[in-house]
Amino acid sequence: MLKKIAFFNPQGNFDRNDSHLTEHPDFGGQLVYVKELAKAMSKLGLKIDIITRKIIDLDWPEFSETFDHYPNYENLRIIRVPFGGSKFLNKELLWEYLGDYVKEIIRFYNSEGEFPDFVTTHYGDGGISGAMFLKKTGINFSFTGHSLGAQKKDKFSSFNNEFLEQKYRFSIRIAAERSAIKYSTFVVTSTEQEKTVQYMHQAYKNLTLENLKKFVVISPGVNTEIFNTFEDEKVQHFEKFLKIYNKSFIILSSRIDPKKNHISVVKSYLENKKLQEIFNLIIVVRGIENVFEYSKKETEDAKILSQIIHLLKENNLLENIIFLNIDSQIELASLYKAASKFKSIFALTSLYEPFGLAIIEAMACGLPVVATKSGGPIEILNNGYYGKVVDPNDTNEISSAILEIFKDYNKYQKLGINRVISNYTWEKTAEKYLEKIHSTYKMKTEHVQLPLFFEKLI
Ligand code: F6P
Repeated sequence: MLKKIAFFNPQGNFDRNDSHLTEHPDFGGQLVYVKELAKAMSKLGLKIDIITRKIIDLDWPEFSETFDHYPNYENLRIIRVPFGGSKFLNKELLWEYLGDYVKEIIRFYNSEGEFPDFVTTHYGDGGISGAMFLKKTGINFSFTGHSLGAQKKDKFSSFNNEFLEQKYRFSIRIAAERSAIKYSTFVVTSTEQEKTVQYMHQAYKNLTLENLKKFVVISPGVNTEIFNTFEDEKVQHFEKFLKIYNKSFIILSSRIDPKKNHISVVKSYLENKKLQEIFNLIIVVRGIENVFEYSKKETEDAKILSQIIHLLKENNLLENIIFLNIDSQIELASLYKAASKFKSIFALTSLYEPFGLAIIEAMACGLPVVATKSGGPIEILNNGYYGKVVDPNDTNEISSAILEIFKDYNKYQKLGINRVISNYTWEKTAEKYLEKIHSTYKMKTEHVQLPLFFEKLI
């Protein structure tokens, strides 16, 4: 009988306080996904272990204990195993240590005397760890890629290959992803597009075609305990604050990263007087107290913030932008709920967005959305029916979409809320995973042949 499921997520980290969540590239949407799916599965009566890395580093003090947990989720453990030394390492530096990750997991379960019945793996590093674990234990795994190496590599086509290999280890990552496709019992994509376009990239195409039956589209959910339309004091607090401006707001809330493309919305705003009359801009930042001071730094996010400040200043519009340092999902939801009362709109114009969890979070709180047509949002928004989809580089298209939504605000608000409630809850996601796990966990997978790089690690 299926009793226990492990989640392999070597990169980033998890803790009961959600430290660094969505503040660092390795603590992005994938971690929210793993955490919420694991929680929802545990509520369905299974024992769940999220297995990640033990880090003993003064700069990352939250991740040094072996065990952690989320309050009120007694069937769910966060287990940290040591590998790759003790300091925090970015995900690009973990590849050579994944053999040790797997060995440590085996050691851990041996010491407990009970192994999981199945493993869900996440990202290429989790996926190849699943394949190594399968080879050693015969325990099956699923693969959820979240973001694929070949897609990322294509975005850097103008860079020197040697540099890219050194920095991002693309050939190793793609080899890992290929093994994960080959040996998992099922591959989960968040959208049809991910399956029919991303996994059909030349780097995976032959394997995808050979394993097409394994692919299953399961949409992620939104945490409806947080992202909903219920009111509380925190919402009222934001409402009071926003009221002072006597305007609507265009809200941007994603990592300050070039691929999230905040700049296109800022440019649309600067080019369109009507937008300026109706809206102010809110840019959510995380962990940055004083954006103006921070923007003087040399980091990539500081440069983006500095460019935004510079553009607004040049146009005498610096007063129209608010940078908000939001430090939890709960605070974010309160901001969204309050902003929806002032006919505000959420914008996500990423150059490419694998799924678009941020837009369903906003929609669930009553914020209609304008989102990139590149990637998952086009399916979530059903080609523009539940919100507008735009070319992320077309500033005119972005402003028109925002104004059209504003004109029909109540209609888009209702459509968005209903879309989320009927399609995107984690409970539904967990049930769909479990259905697939039940039908595949006993399968026999033999002759696991790993790429040489990984074969040598175990
Ligand atoms: O968090 C979302 C996510 O897509 C993760 O899967 C991954 O950690 C990161 O963002 C993107 O990774 P990459 O840029 O290496 O594809």
